[in-house]
Amino acid sequence: MREILVTSALPYANGYIHLGHLVEYIQTDIWVRAMKAQGHQVTYVCADDAHGTAIMLKAEANGVTPEAQIASVKASHEADFSKFLINFDNYHTTHSEENKQFSEMIYRRLNNAGHISTKDVEQLFDPEKQLFLADRFVKGTCPECDSPDQYGDNCEVCGTTYDATDLKDPHSTLSDATPVLKTSKHYFFDLPEFEQFLKDWTRSDNRLQVSVANKLQEWFDAGLASWDISRDAPYFGFQIPDTPSDEPDKYFYVWLDAPVGYMASFKNLCDKREGTEQALDFDRYWMQENEHKTEVYHFIGKDIVYFHALFWPAMLAGSEFRTPTGVFAHGFLMVNGEKMSKSRGTFIKAETYAEHLHPEYLRYYFASKLSDKVEDINLDLEDFMQKVNSDLVGKVVNIASRSAGFLVKKYDGILSDVCVESELLEDITKTGDEIAAAYENREFSRAMRLIMQCADKANEYIDAKKPWSLAKQEGTEQEVQDVCSVAINIFRQLMVYLAPVLPELTANAKAFLNIDDLSFASRNEWLLGHKINKFKPLMQRIEEKDVTAMVEDSKASLTQTETPVPSEGHKPDAKNQTSSTAEANTGAEQTDYIGIEDFAKVEMKVAHVLACNHVEGADKLLQFTLDVGEDQPRNVFSGIRKFYEPEQLQGKKVICVTNLAPRKMKFGVSEGMVLSTGEPKTGLTVVTLPDACVVGDTLA
Ligand code: MSP
Ligand code: ZN
Repeated sequence: MREILVTSALPYANGYIHLGHLVEYIQTDIWVRAMKAQGHQVTYVCADDAHGTAIMLKAEANGVTPEAQIASVKASHEADFSKFLINFDNYHTTHSEENKQFSEMIYRRLNNAGHISTKDVEQLFDPEKQLFLADRFVKGTCPECDSPDQYGDNCEVCGTTYDATDLKDPHSTLSDATPVLKTSKHYFFDLPEFEQFLKDWTRSDNRLQVSVANKLQEWFDAGLASWDISRDAPYFGFQIPDTPSDEPDKYFYVWLDAPVGYMASFKNLCDKREGTEQALDFDRYWMQENEHKTEVYHFIGKDIVYFHALFWPAMLAGSEFRTPTGVFAHGFLMVNGEKMSKSRGTFIKAETYAEHLHPEYLRYYFASKLSDKVEDINLDLEDFMQKVNSDLVGKVVNIASRSAGFLVKKYDGILSDVCVESELLEDITKTGDEIAAAYENREFSRAMRLIMQCADKANEYIDAKKPWSLAKQEGTEQEVQDVCSVAINIFRQLMVYLAPVLPELTANAKAFLNIDDLSFASRNEWLLGHKINKFKPLMQRIEEKDVTAMVEDSKASLTQTETPVPSEGHKPDAKNQTSSTAEANTGAEQTDYIGIEDFAKVEMKVAHVLACNHVEGADKLLQFTLDVGEDQPRNVFSGIRKFYEPEQLQGKKVICVTNLAPRKMKFGVSEGMVLSTGEPKTGLTVVTLPDACVVGDTLA
């Protein structure tokens, strides 16, 4: 029996769980269940990642303490995970006593070993909020193409990357104040000292996927930089211990204590289980000298490889803890072949999905797509319906539904005493070894293919024997019972194979089959002379209307909650792989709630397009002259030139945001905003209103 500790990345406590996240939690959960079914002792822990500026600001905006904020988000995360049958052994938070202790311990050990140094860093500072600004909290005009309203790390119009200090007319997105440059002392972890260790570590013992190891080689080639692990107050996190008492307090950067959260959640579980039969020994999993007794695996997305394959093992090695046995990265979720998009309704919250569709559909679909590669995976909604309906309902469940009826009606649910097709059953038992290996190697799509091949064999067998016509003939009682018993035995094996993916369906099947074990080994015991229960439908077909409703609901939640607050999540991919101060967004859109009072601040009016024209020298803009029911028409610029000829909009009724602060642009002042849907990259559609709408009326 192997002793294995497994983690998924800790979701940020500033947003909801969406289908993209679920790729990871479903992947990990399936792996954990499959390994448990093999009889290993597997422990699966996770936690909310609760620290950082974004969470602090969010709490402030909601008028609650950060503690209250993270508690409510944690509850909602846990509710979502449980709907999707993610079976954590423990779900903790990084804002915990255990995490504080381990973070301090690791920091002190690194410091004592000389791995921490300090350096003055000059950074943009919001004089109103009294806060240093991560790149995502600064906006201004692109130094390259003059597009207004671009973030401090790169321009979404021309794609240039730059430093926040290069922006023209920079302003803080938090207060609108003009940031100033300010210097403060930062603490750095000396990553370059670990270069040789990391080169060896990343290349040995199959710890990483080949493509990940290659990516790391690029980072080594570019040179490692020291990592800035401190942030200035105000910050929601842990204070760095042992700093000079006459200097301002410093806090651990959220990414310092986030991975320590894996240890902390595990420690929390060890404490909970102390003295019970399931007791766990913390030291056995984390002390360097026990490295070979237990295994530790981290499942992560490709965007956070840097942290898990460089910073984290270096931190652990430098503080004399064991390093992970493996780090497994997966790709990102695409929906219908494109990045998830709020406007297309494909940015789907876990909660919204679960209101319309059964979570096990998604678990199966993801399983049928996931491999051990870092490739992105595509949720094609058409294919999703088709695959689930044909594989699970049409092939698998069908085996039971077409054979159980005869057995229950005619034989009191009793299966034959002998198996008349032992070769077929043995064949499917043997395939089980391949299926188990595929699970363990995270080749879930292969496992699903093998399982469906077994299901095909069962259906071919039933089709050939035709128990429904046999049942009408004389003297075939035994044969009908035998054929149906073979089918039920194969069905039982399929339930064993699918249990990691479909825990609920297979639990119901267990009740129907009247058995109490679906462990992998249990497939070797055939059900002979065994009594089964009445068959109840185990899964309904997916209906197109439910998928459509889910997409529509996701679009609708867009209009209610459209105020993205960028997270400070540090993902070096966006700019400079080795820069240790780069701050980028989380790689996925997040919605932050606003109160009704914030929504009420936005004034939107019915506007009549009096004139619409090209703008000399601006190939992205159209200029509008809008009647919004005031004395004077308004002048508004809109970046939709690529998608419209001016004539198409002339005379139309549109929606204008009328209380947006006037913006001075190269070509004049823009006095509002015309609403459209879609994204500048792929296409924008101006929202037009029926002629009956009255110019100047307010929308609410
Ligand atoms: N808080 C950090 C992780 C800290 S781990 C010590 C974080 N949080 S996250 O909420 O942004 O993401 C959590 C996990 O979900 C990450 O592994 C991330 O890669 C994954 N995903 C988030 N969006 C995703 C998709 N759209 N598609 C697939 N996985 C995605 O990163
Ligand atoms: Zn630009």
